[in-house]
Amino acid sequence: MSDKSSNQMWGGRFAAGPDAIMEAINASIGFDKRMAAQDIAGSRAHAAMLAAKGIVTPSDAEAMREGLLTVLSEIETGDFAFSTALEDIHMNVEARLKEVIGEPAGRLHTGRSRNDQVATDFRLWVRDQLDAAEAGLKALMRALVAQADSGADWVMPGFTHLQTAQPVTWGHHMMAYVEMFARDLSRVQDARKRMNESPLGAAALAGTSFPIDRDMTATALGFDCPMANSLDAVSDRDFALEFLSVASISAMHLSRFAEELVIWSSAQFRFVTLSDRFSTGSSIMPQKKNPDAAELIRAKIGRIFGANVALMMVMKGLPLAYSKDMQEDKEQVFDAADNWMLALAAMEGMVKDMSANQPALEAAASAGFSTATDLADWLVRELDLPFRDAHHVTGSLVAMAEQKDCDLPDLSLDDMQSVHAGITAAVFDVLGVHNSVASRTSYGGTAPVRVREQVARWKDALA
Ligand code: ARG
Repeated sequence: MSDKSSNQMWGGRFAAGPDAIMEAINASIGFDKRMAAQDIAGSRAHAAMLAAKGIVTPSDAEAMREGLLTVLSEIETGDFAFSTALEDIHMNVEARLKEVIGEPAGRLHTGRSRNDQVATDFRLWVRDQLDAAEAGLKALMRALVAQADSGADWVMPGFTHLQTAQPVTWGHHMMAYVEMFARDLSRVQDARKRMNESPLGAAALAGTSFPIDRDMTATALGFDCPMANSLDAVSDRDFALEFLSVASISAMHLSRFAEELVIWSSAQFRFVTLSDRFSTGSSIMPQKKNPDAAELIRAKIGRIFGANVALMMVMKGLPLAYSKDMQEDKEQVFDAADNWMLALAAMEGMVKDMSANQPALEAAASAGFSTATDLADWLVRELDLPFRDAHHVTGSLVAMAEQKDCDLPDLSLDDMQSVHAGITAAVFDVLGVHNSVASRTSYGGTAPVRVREQVARWKDALA
């Protein structure tokens, strides 16, 4: 008989319990207790299946079902004493079940292993997070569409190289992010579809000789089907990596918008005012109102992408099937998920509350010769100049305006004609920023009519 201090779940062949350091490095209960609900759902599905297949008696299965519900409510109410000696959530739950229902608890682990158990729990947990991300992304997209709706025709500078390029509309800029988050959303949905297969019943690695019904447990847990290869089922974590890469791309999108909000809310830009609810003050400078939420969202990509890289490194080079290395999968994903959800919610809150400063946007839109391309296009259209020549003429006019320290529309017709004699007063129509944006009606362009079409499309899609 083994020493009493050896593990009650697997200590049969052990004469002594683990060293304290061994226990410390081995235990995952400190973090995998977050999968308690998933673990118990998996066990309930497994127990019901064991009874349906005559592998355990109906009365044992009923005892397991009730006992598992008791354990779940203990965990939910905080009445559960987690034990590091019991390593992980799987053995903590089973050991407690034994205390609650006695002998039948020992039959629950028939035809399964912690290897398929943990793979199942983790898939269920990640699947919940994908669903939460879907909700978070949609909420953020709705907030952006609302912003676009109220400012579909407000002009602002569009930038390339962060230099004024051409006027665009506020609505168009907001809708650009809607498109990005929509692709994040489709990646989330796509990942969910691919990962929604059940590892349960793969057992340790090779399947089991018990006549289990994997379709039954898969259905009970909301999976589309059981995974087709037991070695694969217990040994891959690509679903978690896919979650992290989708999260990384989305966090990258969030960081770009966050950066724009940081710039836009500065005294130098004043494009937007963030609400007090999503700003902070400085302890020394009384005038300060800081965009901390935006800065933190900008930074979240660090840990999220870090998690992606870390798990990729954990998985790289692992032989089939399960290796304990894979216990290092969870903390990365938990942390990334928490922070992605938080970033999505904070961004939604900021976008909902922020107000765009329409006069400041408009003033900035006209600065920096932003309608120079409109002038060049006019020369092509009205005077039939080749675009390259029109570009050159316009460049000379910009240089002239720069010299006179004025904007393009402030040049006189004489000034214009001194560069190209064919220019007429009609040119001034295209130099205004409103005409400029209104003219960009190509599909996907910044014209308010196009923006309103996109707003309507997304309002429908997100309703
Ligand atoms: N705590 C373990 C993990 O997270 C559960 C699986 C343990 N399996 C094993 N054969 N030791 O990966």
